[in-house]
Amino acid sequence: AGNLASLGEVINHENFAFEKVDICDGPALAEVFLKHQPDGVMHLAAESHVDRSIDGPGDFIKTNIDGTYTLLEASRSYCQRRDRSDSENPDFRFHHVSTDEVYGQLTEFDEPFTEETPYDPSSPYSASKAASDHLVRAWGRTFGLPIVITNCSNNYGPRHFPEKLIPHMILNALAGKPLPVYGDGRQIRDWLFVEDHAQAIDSIFHKGKSGEVYNIGGNNEWKNIDLINFLCYTMDQKLGREEGTSAKLITYVRDRPGHDLRYAIDASKLISETGWRPQVTFEVGLERTVNWYLANQEWLKHVTSGEYLRYYENMYEDR
Ligand code: TYD
Repeated sequence: AGNLASLGEVINHENFAFEKVDICDGPALAEVFLKHQPDGVMHLAAESHVDRSIDGPGDFIKTNIDGTYTLLEASRSYCQRRDRSDSENPDFRFHHVSTDEVYGQLTEFDEPFTEETPYDPSSPYSASKAASDHLVRAWGRTFGLPIVITNCSNNYGPRHFPEKLIPHMILNALAGKPLPVYGDGRQIRDWLFVEDHAQAIDSIFHKGKSGEVYNIGGNNEWKNIDLINFLCYTMDQKLGREEGTSAKLITYVRDRPGHDLRYAIDASKLISETGWRPQVTFEVGLERTVNWYLANQEWLKHVTSGEYLRYYENMYEDR
């Protein structure tokens, strides 16, 4: 889902450098560490879409588990070398960005996930992220690598790859295509605006304690069908369509296998330790997201061509 077209605003920044490297390629990673001498790693590189993990789990096992292992090893040997050569500044932080899906599913009546909730992943995607979390923890305990793990709820916002619910619905509504609701649409997700997630990662990277886990969430639970209806209403307003036009496109389709009923995050540890709080309400965040997609058709052309289209056309026929 990575896309150079998403980096337009930062690409000329003096603190920015881009290296196209496979995280499963140890020697190439070693070169990147040597060249850039980082103070830390924020590891966000992952296959992240549950439906794709059901269609083909292999890439998820490879990138998320093998890739995390390779990145951990590259960090470990870099730290060993760095501690010897730079005793002034031996600090390093390996921050693994993970998901609340490692905890499995909640019923409507359960308390939200805390950092102590036992792991119980349902999909090949969440199982691969659970495995990578365990590897990161083990590298902390066994090898003393200074690690931190964050488990975040569903993100949304500009530049979201359109395989995920919100951008998928925006693009289909725009094109007058069906809006596929999996199962009965009663599943619940806890939505967080992407910039709030970025702020949380920044706060934890600088203020979080080594070896700790932090849950990140927006305290913003929505049933899928309610969210889709709200999005349809927003789209009708933005496009000057008669109210109810987009909602007519809602189509119930076969449920996702192993579909988790509910995710919800208790972020109180993060809030009390770092002072972070989500800043963007769902109404404002969703409007900013819709505005962004409507204003960035060029970006869409880059991401909705070739392989992406073929994947979705096949998947939709299958359902
Ligand atoms: P998604 O964005 O894939 O995130 P996740 O599976 O990691 O929570 O899906 C969010 C919810 O929306 C999930 O319950 C599945 C549902 N969904 C649909 O009903 N239709 C869709 O086209 C998509 C992509 C998701």
